[in-house]
Amino acid sequence: MVQIAVMGYGVVGSGVVEVFYKNRESIQRRAGCEMEIKRILDLREFPGSPYAEKFTKNFEDILQDDDIRVVVEVMGGVHPAFEFVQQCLQRGKSVATSNKELVATKGAELLKTAAENNVNFLFEASVGGGIPILRPLSQCLAANEIMEIDGILNGTTNYILTKMIKEQVSFADALQQAQQLGYAERDPSADIEGADACRKVCILASLAFGKHVYPDSVYTEGITKISLDDVAYAADMDCVIKLIGRVQKLSDSRITATVYPAFISHDSQLATVDDVFNAVLVRGDAIGDVVFYGKGAGKLPTASAVVADVIDCVKHIGTRKLISWEDCHDPDYVVDYKTDTVSMYVCMQTQDRPALQEAVKQQFGVVRTLSRPNAPGDAFAFATGAMPEAQIDQKLSAVSSLGTVTSKIRILSDI
Ligand code: HSE
Repeated sequence: MVQIAVMGYGVVGSGVVEVFYKNRESIQRRAGCEMEIKRILDLREFPGSPYAEKFTKNFEDILQDDDIRVVVEVMGGVHPAFEFVQQCLQRGKSVATSNKELVATKGAELLKTAAENNVNFLFEASVGGGIPILRPLSQCLAANEIMEIDGILNGTTNYILTKMIKEQVSFADALQQAQQLGYAERDPSADIEGADACRKVCILASLAFGKHVYPDSVYTEGITKISLDDVAYAADMDCVIKLIGRVQKLSDSRITATVYPAFISHDSQLATVDDVFNAVLVRGDAIGDVVFYGKGAGKLPTASAVVADVIDCVKHIGTRKLISWEDCHDPDYVVDYKTDTVSMYVCMQTQDRPALQEAVKQQFGVVRTLSRPNAPGDAFAFATGAMPEAQIDQKLSAVSSLGTVTSKIRILSDI
């Protein structure tokens, strides 16, 4: 009998317990042994819970109990999750977590601690919720050099953008719905400002390219400035707006890593990924493009991935799963996003549209002029050709006396 503990009984933690008891028979069959949840750590009271006797408010009840061999960390945040996980690993317990922030900021350190103590630290649920992506990336695609990963990595923002695109629902109303459905982070600014997707980009990049990428090296822009006008201009280009997390390997072994809203063509495999669904496109040198798709947030989809990691931890007691990367603090490893070549949708407000149009033509050459229903006469929207982003900024500043940039969104035509 392998005893398990769950730290955190929020949306995901309660989902882990629910999935475990619902599917216990098949879970045990797959693990090859009997399993039981012995302890649940949470500071809150859960009166009337069928698991009342398992609850504890004291972490030591889990740490000091050597019958507990596998611990689930679903508390969220870095502290005290980091200290708890590290102590569990040092005590010889394997840990499964869905905590993106923890893995993105402390992953290299915790993987090292796990290796030193011959236990496992698994985190499939930290990227893409219920979608299997980390295991495929590190195992099934292991023969490939990964060239690029592009993903819709945040369910909350994808839900909001879908509502804006398909139903013209306001940003605020759509966010409220996503929170009610249990998709959003405790602090939803992490969703809408892009921090959650950034953490997932860090994990994907670290795993794909073998060096830890920290969140502060990833240029991150959220969706709070996206308007229904931008959505309409995107439609004029047969595009939709999606929050895209992207990592690319460069020829000199450095990488790009970014999170930002982007126009993507209706023809893209990512364009039809709607609502809370996530998708991750992986481009490998042998396989070409492969896309992983499924529910990226929510109680049971996320619990599904956590419990699968628990099964893997149980199956590998005494042995190691080789998931790891090295720590890296080289400030030049992730290149400055301003050097990336992109096209840009730009919307400007102007008192003199003919003069602005002429100046834009002088700077950018021929641009694609965009239109939308009921556009005011003082708006001029266009799409530039592809060039380094710093060059786009220079050209826009050269025309700034003739108008003000009200929107600027990158156009990704290669996914
Ligand atoms: N808040 C996250 C999302 C949860 O919306 O995708 C899953 O990581």
